[in-house]
Amino acid sequence: MALQDENIVWHPHAITRADRETQHGHQGVVLWFTGLSGSGKSTLAGALEQALFSLGVSTYLLDGDNVRHGLCRDLSFSDEDRRENIRRVGEVAKLMVDAGLVVLTAFISPHKVEREMVRAQLAEGQFIEIFVDTPLETCEARDPKGLYKKARAGELKNFTGIDSIYQAPEKPEIHIDGEQLVTHLVPQLLAVLRQRAIINP
Ligand code: ADX
Repeated sequence: MALQDENIVWHPHAITRADRETQHGHQGVVLWFTGLSGSGKSTLAGALEQALFSLGVSTYLLDGDNVRHGLCRDLSFSDEDRRENIRRVGEVAKLMVDAGLVVLTAFISPHKVEREMVRAQLAEGQFIEIFVDTPLETCEARDPKGLYKKARAGELKNFTGIDSIYQAPEKPEIHIDGEQLVTHLVPQLLAVLRQRAIINP
């Protein structure tokens, strides 16, 4: 459903993204973590946010499990609802980039087309896709919420990796081996962000 009203006109405001970025001391950007349930997206995004925050970076973490308690509480795990989930999160992330924040998102976001839809909404360099590449067997062995067990028992339908697809990114900006320790991964990610001039040295 696309509601477009010709009587609603975009209003440019006096304070711009550039002004807000100057105040924060860094640019607004989305660090989009994608991967299977249990791959370590949220843990890694949370640890990176802590590191960035202590460096004085203005951050915000949007996490699938949390967003689905509020903004997206009406959505299921059908393909259509996952698409709407990512669309809403993409819009929120875009607003936060406009606010000059470093936005970290942790959503399975299993479909390539939806991740590309979010990328297309942002300017060049504002969308950094981070693939947390953890084998299904490892995610299933971790099973922190017992959801794989339920999915295998047929008690949970449309579970990603079991009876719902995950399309791995082909050319993510950052490809992470999800079996490495978070304490090793965070410094690696910080180095890439410095290289890309997203944060200052
Ligand atoms: S997404 O596919 O729409 O991007 P999202 O990241 O918001 O998913 O939510 C995933 C989280 O919801 C998982 O980490 C898991 O805890 C929980 N969950 C509940 N049911 C499912 C399901 N059928 N498939 C995947 N995750 C599920």
